[in-house]
Amino acid sequence: PRKIIIDTDPGQDDAVAILLALGSPEDIDLLGITTVAGNVPLALTQKNARITCEVAGRPEIKVFAGCDAPLERPLVTAEHVHGSTGLDGPDLFEPTMALQDRHGVEFIIDTLRAEAPGTVTLCPLGPLTNIGAAFRKAPDIIDRVQEIVLMGGAYFEVGNITPAAEFNIYVDPEAARDVLASGVKITMMPLDVTHKALTSRARVQAFRDLGSRVGNFTADMLDFFERFDVEKYGSEGGPLHDPCVIAYLIQPELFSGRHINVEIETASPLTLGMTVADWWGVTDRPANALFIGDVDADGFFALLTERLGRL
Ligand code: BDR
Ligand code: CA
Repeated sequence: PRKIIIDTDPGQDDAVAILLALGSPEDIDLLGITTVAGNVPLALTQKNARITCEVAGRPEIKVFAGCDAPLERPLVTAEHVHGSTGLDGPDLFEPTMALQDRHGVEFIIDTLRAEAPGTVTLCPLGPLTNIGAAFRKAPDIIDRVQEIVLMGGAYFEVGNITPAAEFNIYVDPEAARDVLASGVKITMMPLDVTHKALTSRARVQAFRDLGSRVGNFTADMLDFFERFDVEKYGSEGGPLHDPCVIAYLIQPELFSGRHINVEIETASPLTLGMTVADWWGVTDRPANALFIGDVDADGFFALLTERLGRL
């Protein structure tokens, strides 16, 4: 199995991504979960990560609290999408599993130094603050990362937090810029692909039909989560952004994209956090990311349902 660290700001779709990883032990060795401020403040995202692990029956998973604010800016949150808890929908509870003492950024640094070079994949599902902070603090770890597979950005689908920017990149554009300039192998799941991984009545019912705690918890989260996109955009369901990252690690053949140059806007107030993606190769800037554009959505939901069914 592939060794990964999930860096996350749960968030219903983050929680489903964590469940997918936990349901896939033959493919994924989850070394730890680092949490970051994003959808909601850090005090809630670290708690939501622990709730998710407990729902999955995996209280031994190491969960760390990382940065509570972006590298160079005040925090912007998304309660309008995720609810005031970040995980609205199911009945939530006070988790009893421990939060690790170490700072999430220290865990990322220590792990990359301890494991053999090129054997740990980072999976950021929120603003890139923790990864950016780790790279600034310990540049020696950059060359040791196997790959970064992240959810963030948008090109043809433009933005979801501003007309130009996707939320994760918008919240910490300096961290995103640093990560994209790091030279690490990067795969990006932008809105272009995640808006094709939409829930539907039948897809949510399939989770409920699992008849398990995980199945009901997931269906309750998604019933809440999808209302935002259905009401606001009239789309048929809610986009399962973050699980695309984990699904890609398990079944990359479900996805397709292009190796292109992606730059992050960090100055313009109008287009802050925009991922300027050279999809058509109109510049000679070198490719720095695999930018995913398409997914086999039925295959993706089949994988998700089957793996959550194992928990
Ligand atoms: C991203 O922002 C968050 O709201 C979701 O969890 C996802 O990571 C989508 O723009
Ligand atoms: Ca997220």
